[in-house]
Amino acid sequence: MSQVIELKSHPLVSHNLAILRSKDTESQRFREAAQRLSTIVLVSATDSLKTVEQEIETPIKQTVETVLTEEVWFIPVLRAGLAMVDVGLKLIPEAHVGFVGLYRDEKTLEPQHYYKNLPDFSRAAHSCFIMDPMLATGGSSVATIDLLKSHGATDIRLLTLICAPEGIKEVFAKHPDVTIFTASLDERLNESGYIVPGLGDAGDRYFGT
Ligand code: PRP
Ligand code: URA
Repeated sequence: MSQVIELKSHPLVSHNLAILRSKDTESQRFREAAQRLSTIVLVSATDSLKTVEQEIETPIKQTVETVLTEEVWFIPVLRAGLAMVDVGLKLIPEAHVGFVGLYRDEKTLEPQHYYKNLPDFSRAAHSCFIMDPMLATGGSSVATIDLLKSHGATDIRLLTLICAPEGIKEVFAKHPDVTIFTASLDERLNESGYIVPGLGDAGDRYFGT
């Protein structure tokens, strides 16, 4: 309950964070580093997926492996969350993808909904992985978790690349059952709601806008 898994101590995480954070990194290199980091975060976040034993016959002999049993859902929060979806589908090609469209109002920092495409999660055993590189005030993540729960989701993990302590506090105040995975837990938010030291605007940098 209320757990944050920070992966920054891994040398590959820190190395790729350095690329993402630098203001001199252009879009293509930014995308590549974001995808490498997302892979590491995803591998960590999927280590408790439910499995069942399956008998396999190799060319040599009979053996047993475990295979995934439940539906895996990736839920990217548009736009920046798209950075993490392809990586997820490469790791788990059988996964499903739902979408939540939100942007932060620049003045109030409140999340504004503009799109959703989600199933009724209650019809099958599932694990939901929300994908959003940045957790700042926490408004967007809380709104997304609210939405998933209203669609019957019960098993939710939040995958990010950079978090602010203020956002983590907000998510856990409203949703203590969600585990947060992140490459880095940064220092704080600035007066404009940006993460410090952060990387600036993730969506703009990823999409070159
Ligand atoms: C960014 C980010 C999160 C949100 C985090 O999205 O991708 O969704 O801000 O901020 P919060 O924790 O304060 O809600 P943004 O609103 O910039 O939209 P974009 O991805 O379309 O650029
Ligand atoms: N969204 C971003 O893209 N960056 C931040 O620092 C905060 C919110």
